[in-house]
Amino acid sequence: MNLAVIGLQWGDEGKGKAIDYLASGFDVVVRYQGGHNAGHTIYYKGQKIILHLLPSGIFSPGTTSVIGNGVVINPLQLIKEIENVKKYGVTLEKFVVSYFAPLILPEHQRLDIVFENSRYIKIGTTKRGIGPAYEDLTGRRAIFARDLLDKDDFYKKVKPLNKYYNKLIGAYDGEKVEIDQYIDEYIEAGKILKPFAQNTVYLLNEYFRRGRSILFEGAQGILLDINFGTYPFVTSSNPSVGGIFAGTGLSHKAMGQITGISKAYTTRVGGGPFPAELSGESAEFLREKGKEYGATTGRPRRVGWLDLVALKYALMINGVDDVFLTKLDVLDEFDEINVVTAYETAGKKSDVFDPSIDYLSSVKPVLKSFPGWKKNTGETVKYADLPPRARDYIEFIENFTGVPVCCISVGAAREQTISRT
Ligand code: IMP
Repeated sequence: MNLAVIGLQWGDEGKGKAIDYLASGFDVVVRYQGGHNAGHTIYYKGQKIILHLLPSGIFSPGTTSVIGNGVVINPLQLIKEIENVKKYGVTLEKFVVSYFAPLILPEHQRLDIVFENSRYIKIGTTKRGIGPAYEDLTGRRAIFARDLLDKDDFYKKVKPLNKYYNKLIGAYDGEKVEIDQYIDEYIEAGKILKPFAQNTVYLLNEYFRRGRSILFEGAQGILLDINFGTYPFVTSSNPSVGGIFAGTGLSHKAMGQITGISKAYTTRVGGGPFPAELSGESAEFLREKGKEYGATTGRPRRVGWLDLVALKYALMINGVDDVFLTKLDVLDEFDEINVVTAYETAGKKSDVFDPSIDYLSSVKPVLKSFPGWKKNTGETVKYADLPPRARDYIEFIENFTGVPVCCISVGAAREQTISRT
C-alpha cells in the first residue's frame, strides 16, 4: 500500500528518521513540494547526513527516488547533494527529477533576503528563494528544469525575469544580479542533471499502474502550509496531502495510508504565533536536550509543549491514519510534562485552531499536566517496556485525538524506534 509521510507541526518533526525507518520495502520514494528549505536528517553507515532536496530513499539501493514537479529546484544545490551522496557509494541509477520542476534562480534568493530584511512582519524564511520561485509559478513566469537544456533558450527566458527581479531588488536597496554571474554554472548543472530528468508524471503513473509501492515524502509541516498554516508565517507550498496531487500528477486513487509525524512536544523556527511556547529554564533544557537547532539554517528553534488543539487540526485536514511520535526520550528528565488541550479566548474554552495571527496571539493555552516518568527510554524496544507514565502520556494523546500512535521514536538511530504493530 502506498504511504504518505506528512509533518503535523511546523516542520522538523523528524520526518527524515521516520521515512528512513518506514521506507524500506517501498519501490519509489517521491518528494512532492518545498525545496532545499527542508533538512531531512538521516544516519547512514554511522554518519549523519542532511538531505535538503534528494528524497530520503536515496540510500536504499532498490528504491527509485523521484523529485516531483511540485518541488522548486536550485540546480547547484542539487548537484552538490548528488556529489555528496556519491561519497557514500550511492550510484543514483534510480534517481529521477521532473523536467517540470520550477527552478530557483539567484534572483529569487536575493529578493527573498532583501525583502525579508525590510519587511514589517518578518517571516524568518530560510532565505533560499523558495517564496519568489513559487510566486513565479503562480505568476506564470517560472523557468523549469527542462529549460536548462539549451543555453540560448534559457537566456531568452531568464532575461525578462532578471529585469523584473532587479527592479524589485533595487527597490529594497539590494545588489542587482547579473545573468552572466550564474548562467554558465546553471547550464553546466543542467548537463549533469540531464540523465536524471524525465516526465515524472507519466513515470509515476506507470509505477502506480504496475502496482509499485510509493512513499510520498512530505517536507515542512501542515502548520506551515500556504493555505492552512499560520499565514503569513508559512512556507509557499502545500506540505499537506493536497500538495501530493499537485506535486506528482498522481490522482487520489494513488493515496493509501497517511502517517503523520509529530514530536512529543512542539518546535518552530522563524516568526509567528505559537500558543504552547515555553520560555526560561524549561525552554533552554528542552532546546539543549532535543538539539533543537535548524538542520538547514542552524537557527535555535523555539520550543513548547505538545499542542493537541493544533495536532487535531492537522490530523483533521489530512485524514491522517496514524501518528509516528518522535523524540519522546527528550522528555525523560522532566518532573512535569504538559500538553495543551484547549485555548482560552474571551473567558471561554475553545478547541478551534484558527490559524490567524490575531486569534492565536490572543489565546491562552489550557494545559493538562502529567507527572514525568523520570526514566531513560532510549533503550526501550517494546511498547510494554516503556515507563507506565510514558504510556499514559501516549495513550492520552491517542484518546484525545482519536488517532492511534503507530511508532514512537526514542533516539536518533533507526533501532531506537518502538513499533506497536
Ligand atoms: P521559506 O520556506 O524559506 O520561505 O520559510 C518560510 C517559513 O517556513 C519560515 O518560518 C521557515 O523557518 C519555515 N520553514 C521552511 N522550511 C522549513 C523546514 O524544513 N523546517 C522548519 N521550518 C521551515
